[in-house]
Amino acid sequence: MQHTDHATLNASEQLVVAAAAAAAPSVFNTQPWSFVFTDAGMEVHADPHDASMPTASAARDVRLSCGAAVFNARVALARRGHGSRVSVFPDEGDPLLVARVAVTDDAPDRALDELYRWLGSRRTNRYPFRPEGIPAAVLALLHDAARREGATLRLLEGEPEYQRMLTSIRHATWAEDDAVREDRGARLSPSARPPAIPVGNLGPVPRPGRPDDAPVRDMAQGLDLPGRGSAAFEPHPDLAVLETADDDPGAWIAAGQALQRLLLEATGHGIAASFANQPLEDAELRPDVASGAAHFGHPQMVLRLGYATQQPPIPPRRPLSQVIRESGAA
Ligand SMILES: Cc1cc2nc3c(=O)[nH]c(=O)nc-3n(C[C@H](O)[C@H](O)[C@H](O)COP(=O)(O)O)c2cc1C
Repeated sequence: MQHTDHATLNASEQLVVAAAAAAAPSVFNTQPWSFVFTDAGMEVHADPHDASMPTASAARDVRLSCGAAVFNARVALARRGHGSRVSVFPDEGDPLLVARVAVTDDAPDRALDELYRWLGSRRTNRYPFRPEGIPAAVLALLHDAARREGATLRLLEGEPEYQRMLTSIRHATWAEDDAVREDRGARLSPSARPPAIPVGNLGPVPRPGRPDDAPVRDMAQGLDLPGRGSAAFEPHPDLAVLETADDDPGAWIAAGQALQRLLLEATGHGIAASFANQPLEDAELRPDVASGAAHFGHPQMVLRLGYATQQPPIPPRRPLSQVIRESGAA
């Protein structure tokens, strides 16, 4: 297909696109991105701060987060009536330039345009879900959303596979490094301004007595943060693994785009999600998450999906003035 680059985005369009991109999920709400607007469209740059991240798999998680931001930019461009074309890692000499999102004069992608309305209500939900499962027809839409971005959503349906995932999550939680836990504590502490994830977004502490059984990740495990309360979680949520055929920076960007596409689709169908990535952050446990008999590829995210009992508040984002930068500025 022939693409032609459009002239440019005006200032108010730039703000809309940047705000949409900045609403993407990011590892530990680090928002590890900045955006540069050019005559051709928008560039997404990864922040060079992998080393300060609390997880061992920081490089991957930063790129995944940037991929989700790229997807949101495409959605916002479609809403503004533009086509878009993404070039991933377009400059070999600049590995932090994750993507150029060119504005084209192609007709906007209707499917992307329709997802725009869910941008503001999508959020990571660490509250208990209702016990009912997700209908097969809706799961099929989520599979399709991932597939359209070059990834696969593998639902853990069989008991052995499901139980193996719970075991991996449990092992990873036990095995977590003290340094990682301390770093997390510092980021979540009320004295961090603002805390990376506010108390209202952490969800309740899984009810004592069954803490290891809850397939929800308590991001503040071991921290005594006031105001969380405790609750029993649904015993058997739908769990799924987002996978890609490759495991390199390009695949991580694809996984981030697929993640955001399926999360917006899920939001539109009343489905909430949180993540239990702890086994993916442990180099020894990570292969276990992928070792299903007919697995497709490399695991990138572990998702818990279900119907929310409570909608958390909107977590904080950096002001756009800190996220949009001039070309060439560090
Ligand atoms: C690559 C990546 C990994 C994440 N890992 C986890 C996780 O293991 N557990 C969790 O509860 N949230 C996880 N999150 C969700 C982020 O914490 C969340 O996106 C961030 O706090 C912003 O909140 P929001 O998604 O509600 O906008 C992850 C997000 C991304 C993009």
